[in-house]
This record gives sequence, structure tokens and C-alpha cells, in this order.
Amino acid sequence: MTFETIKTSSAKGVLTVTLNRPEAFNALNTLLLKELADLLEQVEQDHEIGAVVVTGGAKVFAAGADIKEMAALDAVGVMNDARPKHWRRIYQFSKPLIAAVNGYALGGGCELVMHCDIVIAGDNALFGQPEINLGIIPGAGGTQRLIRTVGKPLAMKMVLSGEMIDAKTALSAGLVAEVTIPEKTIERATELAQTIARKPPIAVRLAKEALLKAFETDLESGLNLERKSFTLLAATEDRQEGIAAFMEKRKPNFKGC
Ligand code: CAA
Repeated sequence: MTFETIKTSSAKGVLTVTLNRPEAFNALNTLLLKELADLLEQVEQDHEIGAVVVTGGAKVFAAGADIKEMAALDAVGVMNDARPKHWRRIYQFSKPLIAAVNGYALGGGCELVMHCDIVIAGDNALFGQPEINLGIIPGAGGTQRLIRTVGKPLAMKMVLSGEMIDAKTALSAGLVAEVTIPEKTIERATELAQTIARKPPIAVRLAKEALLKAFETDLESGLNLERKSFTLLAATEDRQEGIAAFMEKRKPNFKGC
């Protein structure tokens, strides 16, 4: 697969995807979203890849939807837009997605961060939902995921005022898992992704699914899903291997079955 708007590289079970529209602060045009969704669907079948890092590089993560592209759409155009479909495809990716964020993560960029499972931010990162300044509201889950992630006071402040928050605030609010110096953001995200890529893949997948379910279901249904997945894992060879390796005081050799 060749791409126009993203770059990829892979090593040690981790695929790194770099958003690559520097002339537009990595604004997420429809082609970029489609290419990212296409790539993740392909990675779904690639048993060599256990986790994916998404980054914008050293300076900016993404400044949101491409406003110039959006300007050309009327209400019918927005209604028929392919973007929600691509966002859904990204959300449905079953392997861990780790965001490495330096600089601006605004609008759709902040929403892409919230499509990721773990966020590592440089201390220069700025997160915001500035859509209100354009006469619109977040359109890729920003109202729903932000409030579930950081709670009502901060989500209301960010969405209604358009004000950005820094990495330290994002960390204390739970949007970000770790803050590092900007030079180390991608390195740390990659290291974490490599650690996850060494874990038993079926357990990783079911853990991600169960954790995400907590965003959208009641406790009883979530606990039921957790228990079913816990039971299902008892049928895997990797569970036998993990427990045997512990007993025998050796490193496990997981095979993904
Ligand atoms: N779409 C398209 N182009 C963008 C862009 C965007 N979201 N953000 C930046 N750019 C472009 C600028 O137009 C500019 O290009 P030109 O030189 O060709 O004019 C280039 O990137 C650099 O931008 P600035 O000159 O503005 O750089 P700056 O350092 O002064 O400011 C910024 C940087 C604060 C990120 C500012 O560009 C900005 O506010 N961008 C828009 C942020 C925004 O409103 N995002 C929300 C978009 S709507 C959305 O995302 C909807 C949704 O939920 C799905």
C-alpha cells in the first residue's frame, strides 16, 4: 500500500504511523482519515504487528479537520460525508493504538488522540476543541469522549470556550498517561508499544475491548463481558504458556493462539 498523507515504519512488532501533511499542520483531510483507516484494517491481518504508534512528528500532532476542505461542504455534503465512516473504522481497530503527541492536538486532532488507547505527550503538547470559534461543534466524538475522559468541568470549559489545555493539565485530567520531554515522546510511546506487542495478543485484544466497553455500557453488562472474555482466555495456549512460564521461573513464549 502506498500513501500520500501518512508515512509508516515498523520494528519489533510495532508499526509507527506519522501523519504527513506538514504544510497544513497535519490537518486531517478525508484522504488522511481514509488512508489511516485502510492501513489499520490491513494491520488487523498482520500478525507481526502487536501495537501501533500514531504521531505527527516532533512539532505538531494535528490541527484538526481540514478547514479548507470542510468549507466546501454544505449541509447535504456534511450529511453524506465519508468521514464518520472512516472514524468508526479507526475506532474499531482491535490492537492497541498509542498516540505520541507533540505540539497542537486540536479539534479532530484531539479527537484522534481520544481514538487512541494510550496517550504519551511531550511537555509542549496543547490539546483543544476550538470548533466553537468556527461556528460548529466537535464532530468526531469530541463532546462524548472528552466528557467521559476528563469529566464535565474541563470538557465544558474546553468545548464552550475553545481554550487549549497544556500537557500537565491533560495529564492530571486523565487525557494523557505520561508526559515526557518532546525529544522523547515518540521513543517512549514506541517503547511502551513494544512492551505491549510482546504480550499475548488475544489477551491484549480482549482487554482493550473490555476496557473500551466501560465507556458505553452499564456496570453489569461490562462485568459480564469481562467474565466471558476471562473464560474464553482459559481456552488459549498463551494462557497455559503464561502460567507455565511463571511456575517454571522462565520467560513466556507467546504465540497468539
Ligand atoms: N485546516 C487546514 N489548514 C490548516 C489547519 C486546519 N485545521 N490548521 C492549520 N492550517 C494551515 C494554515 O492554513 C496555514 O497554511 P497557509 O500557510 O497555507 O495559510 C498553516 O497550516 C499554518 O497555520 P498558521 O499560519 O495558522 O500557524 P500558526 O502557528 O499561526 O497557528 C494553529 C497554528 C493555532 C494550529 C492555527 O493554524 C489554528 O488555529 N488552526 C485551526 C485549528 C482548528 O480550528 N481546528 C479545528 C478544525 S474543525 C474540526 O476539527 C472539526 C471536527 O471536530 C471533526
